[in-house]
Amino acid sequence: MTTAEGPTAAKSGSAATDKFKSERVTADTSPERLAAIAKDALDALNEVILKHEVSYPEYRVFKQWLIDVGEGGEWPLFLDVFVEHSVEEVLARSRKGTKGSIEGPYYVPGAPELPARCTMPMREEDEKATPLVFSGQVTDLDGNGLGGAEIELWHADEQGYYSQFAPHLPEWNLRGTIITDAEGRYEITTIQPAPYKIPTDGPTGRFIEAQNGHPWRPAHLHLLVSHPGKASITTQLYFKGGEWVDDDVASATKPDLILDPHKGEDGRNRVVYNFALDPED
Ligand code: BEZ
Ligand code: FE
Repeated sequence: MTTAEGPTAAKSGSAATDKFKSERVTADTSPERLAAIAKDALDALNEVILKHEVSYPEYRVFKQWLIDVGEGGEWPLFLDVFVEHSVEEVLARSRKGTKGSIEGPYYVPGAPELPARCTMPMREEDEKATPLVFSGQVTDLDGNGLGGAEIELWHADEQGYYSQFAPHLPEWNLRGTIITDAEGRYEITTIQPAPYKIPTDGPTGRFIEAQNGHPWRPAHLHLLVSHPGKASITTQLYFKGGEWVDDDVASATKPDLILDPHKGEDGRNRVVYNFALDPED
């Protein structure tokens, strides 16, 4: 991952493949359901070819691009930008509590545990963004506080790099597992992240350019909130008035997920956000 010039955005994207491959993923899909999904996916692709009268040279360029995405390790990146939001939309149909959003390719389980009032692991010198104090409560759907809930929080630094996907960052920089107090409350000090640019120096970038798109995601915090006996929620929080909030390349924003921080007397931005967890599925 390291180069003489240091980290690159594309190397962050491709590092996501190594992380993904280290997990064992399974799904209890029946053979009948798998066959139906596979057939419809192929039918949809063939429909596009017929509709646009795709030529042999175009077909070969498509094949080469697919090979490039795989060799560049960018399938997690590409799929999480352009496809994951639909999978999340399906999950959201069965949920009544806090709205979810995509996980993206940069989640890592096992971040250090932190108490309910805490500061995220960060570099003393280099985390130069505006401090953000983010507080609230985790409850069930009836508003009962959930003590001992886990809030996994991860986000990019001011340059858009996630720890463990860029070699210059400490292992758990801006990643933590916060344990709520007996009433389900928490107060986390972190930094306000900047908008995030999807790597443009690889095949995903070429795809974005080809469809005249832009590579930006609005500034965001990632969260995975869980408690025994409740359905966990993976979500993201954005910032009111922030660039790209209304035009996210990953189509992952929702009106309920917009924070509106206000500057406190100490110069730090402060915001409250509460999470309500559905019962376990
Ligand atoms: C994210 O950081 O949220 C993200 C990055 C790449 C693809 C999708 C999401
Ligand atoms: Fe992100």
